[in-house]
Amino acid sequence: MMRLLAIESSCDETSAAIIEDGNVRSLIVSSQIQIHAEYGGVVPELATREHLTHLQPVIRQALEQAGLNTSELDAICATQGPGLPPALMIGWKAAQSMAFALELPLIGINHVEAHLYSPWFQGNPPRACWEEFQPNISLVISGGHTLLAQVNRPLEHTIIGGTQDDAAGECFDKCAKMLRLGYPGGPVIDRLALKGNPKAHSFARPMLNQDNCDFSFSGLKTSVRYYLDKHPGLAEDDTALPDLCASIQAAIVEVLVKKTIRAAKGLQFSCITLSGGVACNTGLRKAFQEVCEQNGFNLRIASPNLCTDNAAMIGLLGERYFHEAPPQKNWQADIRPSWRLARPA
Ligand code: KG4
Ligand code: ZN
Repeated sequence: MMRLLAIESSCDETSAAIIEDGNVRSLIVSSQIQIHAEYGGVVPELATREHLTHLQPVIRQALEQAGLNTSELDAICATQGPGLPPALMIGWKAAQSMAFALELPLIGINHVEAHLYSPWFQGNPPRACWEEFQPNISLVISGGHTLLAQVNRPLEHTIIGGTQDDAAGECFDKCAKMLRLGYPGGPVIDRLALKGNPKAHSFARPMLNQDNCDFSFSGLKTSVRYYLDKHPGLAEDDTALPDLCASIQAAIVEVLVKKTIRAAKGLQFSCITLSGGVACNTGLRKAFQEVCEQNGFNLRIASPNLCTDNAAMIGLLGERYFHEAPPQKNWQADIRPSWRLARPA
């Protein structure tokens, strides 16, 4: 039997999970959204303070819920990067100290890679469904990252495209900020868009027609800004919000859907996966479901509780790494705040 403690603290969620033989035995997530909402975005100093306050209780709760004590653990695993350096530091240093004190292997996980494999972690409580794995084109869309990868086998992926500027989630959040909808704006735009007309306003679809797998969302954000400047009072008119939100969401979704489908067709993959916070978006899920059904693609979307940041995805991927390449008891490694999943040269 293999038991692993996983820790996530790369941004504004403090999370710990206990994984036992591919099953999530407990998952605790302490979210800081309310704290950062007042400032319209994540404030690194506040995030760090919150991680520091909550990490120990979150770890203790995860152990308690799983009915374990630290002497029953076989490995410790934590997000090593990418992320906010001081936030990463809190979780990583805690993992490092525990691994050192308990003389356990320490596994450093890339946060984006954990999102990438999260569609293969399903169920309630979640478990790793590696036996269901199919080669796929994977779209990771979160607040900090937007990338497309070709995944041939578990742990074997090649990045084929990504955003050249803002991430998709950042675009949702910044557009929401212009409409004074609070932070994070993605879920609010999603909700308002349900009642709006996606064709009411026309916003830019940057890079849609370029024959590559890259994205750009800052142009779309700028197009929304200019549009609002040209139509004074629109953003202040509550009755205009549903149409504005539906039109902004339609632009983001169209680019993501079309470029992902084009990549899957071009590279002859029959499975598409979606993960990251933006994969919770109702309009995006519906659009992907429709187009995948029409084109005969198998679609796998990470379950909503594993789309946003959590330690379960870190631990389930960590366990796979543990089996594929057992880590040494090396407790020296440092955080990797700008750890990028490499693109081939
Ligand atoms: O994966 P995540 O929790 O954190 C990062 O690793 O960045 O993603 C957070 C992002 C935020 O930008 C948030 O606005 C977006 O995911 N998001 C959504 C929805 N739920 C969360 N965007 C659009 N529609 C949603 N329903
Ligand atoms: Zn994330």
